[in-house]
Amino acid sequence: MSVSRSPSPSFPAIVTRLRAAGCVFAEDEAELLISTASGPDELAVMVGRRADGLPLEQVLGWAEFCGLRIAVEPGVFVPRRRTEFLVDQAVRLGRPGAVVVDLCCGSGAMGAAIASALDRIELHAADVEPAAVRCARRNVLPRGGRVYQGDLYRALPADLRGRVDILVVNAPYVPTEEIGLLPPEAREHEPLVALDGGADGLDVQRRVAAEAAQWLAPGGRLLIETSERQARRTVEAFARGGLESRVVACEERYATVVIGTKRPDRL
Ligand SMILES: C[S@@+](CC[C@H](N)C(=O)[O-])C[C@H]1O[C@@H](n2cnc3c(N)ncnc32)[C@H](O)[C@@H]1O
Repeated sequence: MSVSRSPSPSFPAIVTRLRAAGCVFAEDEAELLISTASGPDELAVMVGRRADGLPLEQVLGWAEFCGLRIAVEPGVFVPRRRTEFLVDQAVRLGRPGAVVVDLCCGSGAMGAAIASALDRIELHAADVEPAAVRCARRNVLPRGGRVYQGDLYRALPADLRGRVDILVVNAPYVPTEEIGLLPPEAREHEPLVALDGGADGLDVQRRVAAEAAQWLAPGGRLLIETSERQARRTVEAFARGGLESRVVACEERYATVVIGTKRPDRL
């Protein structure tokens, strides 16, 4: 019995289709799609989904992040390369065996990358969104971490209070009025809860900073990604939460991170 298979779309045909759909790096994307698809049928479906505007990483099912392949599912925020800068800072401040929490973890990319860089950490990750939690389990559990679902700290086990050495957070920080200015890939295919940070973008960051001191160990650090323009207000939120902070930035990656340490006078 013969099995009929669709002919595989050729490299030039894929490039032409992607380019017509507005993909700027059509050749690179075509190579990635060809090398990821399990056969011609899957390749045709993947090219169609990409041409329909799905983010490349959601079509491939993975994103490159800190040299790792991070599983990414449709409807889950795609980890951005700029966030690798926050991971670099966390790894510099961390030590083997540290208790690390990735709050608002999305796919769990940051936690997974820190676990790959530091030996024997105790890793916990949490997100409010069920699809993100499912996806984070694929990235975090194989690296020995645990994943929880719930609103910020409410998701975490109570015995983490006062024990967290490194708390990494990439919360939504786009001001509500600017959501419409985001590229369609983000606007249409990433959940609003992953993007919308409220009127000035800092609603979730403020809630994170307000409670951080209760969860950090003495000398523990909170690292939050923000933007250059919003950094001053992120610093103010850290100060209100009893954290001493500094701003670090990487021009090349267009990345800004506020790093806070619990003040010794805070319990
Ligand atoms: C900008 S995405 C970042 C995801 C991931 N940290 C990363 O860098 O790829 C923000 C994430 O915060 C989560 N989130 C938003 N509000 C939250 C809340 N109140 N509690 C927990 N997670 C929340 C969203 O579901 C989303 O996954």
